[in-house]
Amino acid sequence: PRSYSVTLLPGDGIGPEVVSIAKDVLSVAGSHEGIEFRFREMPVGGAAIDSIGVPLPEETLAAAKESDAVLLGAIGGYKWDGNEKHLKPETGLLQLRAGLGVFANLRPAAVLPQLVDSSTLKKEVAEGVDIMVVRELTGGIYFGKPRGFGTNDKGEDIGFNTEVYSASEIDRIARVAFEVARKRRGKLCSVDKANVLEASMLWRKRVTMLASKFSDVQLSHMYVDNAAMQLIRDPKQFDTIVTNNIFGDILSDEASMLTGSIGMLPSASVGESGPGLFEPIHGSAPDIAGQDKANPLATVLSAAMLLRYGLGEENAAKRIETAVMETLNRGFRTGDIISTGMTLVGCKRMGVEVLRSVDSQTALT
Ligand code: NAD
Ligand code: IPM
Ligand code: MN
Repeated sequence: PRSYSVTLLPGDGIGPEVVSIAKDVLSVAGSHEGIEFRFREMPVGGAAIDSIGVPLPEETLAAAKESDAVLLGAIGGYKWDGNEKHLKPETGLLQLRAGLGVFANLRPAAVLPQLVDSSTLKKEVAEGVDIMVVRELTGGIYFGKPRGFGTNDKGEDIGFNTEVYSASEIDRIARVAFEVARKRRGKLCSVDKANVLEASMLWRKRVTMLASKFSDVQLSHMYVDNAAMQLIRDPKQFDTIVTNNIFGDILSDEASMLTGSIGMLPSASVGESGPGLFEPIHGSAPDIAGQDKANPLATVLSAAMLLRYGLGEENAAKRIETAVMETLNRGFRTGDIISTGMTLVGCKRMGVEVLRSVDSQTALT
C-alpha cells in the first residue's frame, strides 16, 4: 500500500474534537484506496503553551516539516488571550504557516444543494454559489515590519503594524490564483484597496502585468469594501477571488456564511515545495468547546483537500466529499446547519455517520 505520514495538530477548543473525526475518516477512506497513514500528533497553540511553554515547539515544526501533510484543528481561547504576543496561540499558528512557507491559502465556499435552507440569504441568491478565495498567507500586515507598541510625539501610547508586499510575493500568489481560476470557470477577481494603500497599488499593478500570461482568464479588480458588499448582494458574480492576507481572512469568513455555516468551510495552504497545511477556516469556538456540538465537516473536508492538494490522491478525496454529501442527504445536521425536518446530531455522531457513508461506498466499487 502507498503510505504517507500526516502530522496531526489538534490544538485547542473544538480542535481536538474535529481532528479526531477527520483522522478516522482519512484512515477509512484511505484504506479503501490502498492508502495507509502514519499519524503523529503534536502540540500547538494553547495546548503547547501549557505543556511545553511556547505556542509552536521546535519538535512540532520539525515533525510537520518531515511529514507528507499537516492537518490542524484550531488554536486559541480565553485562557491565553491576555498573554504577551510571543506566547499567544495565534502567534504559533502564524509561525507554523511561515515555517512551512505555505503562502497560498485556498478557501472554497460552495453552497451545497442540501444546505441552501441553512444560508441566511434568500434561496435564489444563495443557490449555486461556488467561490474560491485565494488568500495570501505569509505576508502583508500579519508579518510586515515595523510593528509594535510605542509612544507618539504627544507621549501617547501607540500600536502599529505595516502592510507590505514585495513584487515577488504578489506574483507568486497571483500565479496560483490564475492557475486556479483557469481550472474553474476562468474568472478571477483581485480584491484590494488600491485607492488608498500603496501595497495595494503595487498589488494591482503586478496582478495586471501577469494577466497577459493568462489570456484565457478574465481578470477584474474590486475594492475590498465593495467586494464585502457584493458578496452578499450577488455572490454568484464571483468565481475565483485573489486577495491579501487580512482581506482574505475577513472575506472568507463572510463567504462562509453564504454556505450556511463557518463549520462547513475547509482550507488548503500550500507553498512552492514541502508539506501543505490543511485546516478548517473556523477557530477554536470556545463557546461550544467540549459540548460535542461542533460541526466536524469543515475539518473532514480539509482532510479531503489534504488528499487532493497535499498527496495527489484524488480518488480518496472524492470518497470523503461524496460521503459528506451522502450524510447530508440522509438528513444529519449539527446545530449550526440545522433546518426543519432534519436530524440534529452532535459532533461525534456526525463523524459516525460520515464513516458509515465512506464504508457503504466500498460495496458500490
Ligand atoms: P470561531 O471561528 O472560533 O467562532 C466563531 C463562531 O462560529 C462561534 O459562535 C462558534 O461557536 C462558531 N463556530 C466555529 N466553528 C464552528 C464549528 N465547527 N461548528 C459549529 N460552530 C462553529 O471564531 P472566534 O470566536 O472569533 O475565535 C475563537 C478563538 O479561535 C480565538 O482565540 C481566535 O484567535 C481563534 N481562531 C483560530 C483560528 C485557527 O485556528 N485557524 C481561526 C479563527 C479564530
Ligand atoms: C484564520 C484565523 C487566523 C488568521 C488567526 C487565528 C491567526 O483567523 O485562520 O482565519 O487570522 O489567519
Ligand atoms: Mn480567520
